Amino acid sequence: MQSILVTGSSGLIGSEVCMFFAGLGFKVHGIDNNQRAVFFGPQGDTRWNQNRLKRDLPGFEHHELDIRDRQGILGVVRELQPTVIVHTAAQPSHDRAAAIPFDDFDTNAVGTLNLLEAARQYCPESPFIHMSTNKVYGDAPNRLRLTELESRWEYADPEFANGIPETFTIDNSLHSLFGASKVAGDVMVQEYGKYFHMPTCCLRGGCLTGPNHSGVELHGFLSYLIKCNLDGREYQVYGYKGKQVRDNIHSHDVARFIYEFAASPRCGEVYNIGGGKPNSCSIFEAFALVEGITGKAQKFRYLEENRIGDHICYYSDLSKMRSHYSRWDITKSLDATIKEIVSAWQNNRSL
Ligand SMILES: NC(=O)c1ccc[n+]([C@@H]2O[C@H](COP(=O)([O-])OP(=O)(O)OC[C@H]3O[C@@H](n4cnc5c(N)ncnc54)[C@H](O)[C@@H]3O)[C@@H](O)[C@H]2O)c1
Repeated sequence: MQSILVTGSSGLIGSEVCMFFAGLGFKVHGIDNNQRAVFFGPQGDTRWNQNRLKRDLPGFEHHELDIRDRQGILGVVRELQPTVIVHTAAQPSHDRAAAIPFDDFDTNAVGTLNLLEAARQYCPESPFIHMSTNKVYGDAPNRLRLTELESRWEYADPEFANGIPETFTIDNSLHSLFGASKVAGDVMVQEYGKYFHMPTCCLRGGCLTGPNHSGVELHGFLSYLIKCNLDGREYQVYGYKGKQVRDNIHSHDVARFIYEFAASPRCGEVYNIGGGKPNSCSIFEAFALVEGITGKAQKFRYLEENRIGDHICYYSDLSKMRSHYSRWDITKSLDATIKEIVSAWQNNRSL
């Protein structure tokens, strides 16, 4: 029987990957220690999702482990020798990192190294998929020429008509401490692929979203925005006239790509993964989309100052993913994704 080890299994992407691979008959092992609740407080708690996996996936095994625990990670990987490793555990917030630099770096950079080295020692042939981020590009995308449209910013240079490609520079820009710790993990994952010929890849995410995100103000853009709308709570908009653009991909489409890579891996690859231009929206466009579905006006407060290093316009160029894995494409539209998140907050989870 094939087995998969998923770190961050109680989070948005980790839990989706667990469900997806269980559906294919894999034995699923998850590692999570609910660190999200430590990073973001009770609203970030992911135990409910861990319980959901336990309830819905017969045979799911949860390992209560911190990825910073090197001996613990070596021990689990030695014992399981999984056929696939998917690494999604992280300190995921740009803004939070500055207050907790050691926790951030130890989790995102050293935790990733712990897993890579364990994989090299005990299952070097197993595909290793790492969730990276578009913040590895720092604020360099903000140097592109932009056009201001009525409700959003847009790239003025036709070279970027399809979005930001993987060849974009990661140097000489402001990353935030989070972006820097993710660069360290990203480059290590590439290096284990190139140097040791291990089947690794980095997925540089735009906005990853879906009904199982424990959205908080500091992480989980759409999930949190929708929660505010349903709750009648004020959403804070930070600068850029509210026209800053993000591309949104449903976690199911992320899991589908992870499967394609695992089935036909390459060594040390990098892919930008997001919703692409068709699934992109500005904050104000997101308000309108959500209002159209819930019928509730979005309360918000506009603050002049933007978040440090925040992208003004970012959407992923998906050409490389599509050319390497032609069976993969986006299957969930932005509208359908928002509807799922609305319904999850309304029906399944307390507000
Ligand atoms: N969600 C996004 O918009 C987005 C965008 C770009 C990149 N990413 C990346 O994708 C990955 C997954 O993101 P997500 O949205 O699913 O995050 P998430 O916070 O929902 O899930 C991460 C899980 O990892 C666990 N975790 C954190 N630190 C841990 C540790 N030290 N040991 C064990 N478990 C730990 C958390 O408790 C949480 O359940 C992360 O690497 C993140 O940086 C996410």
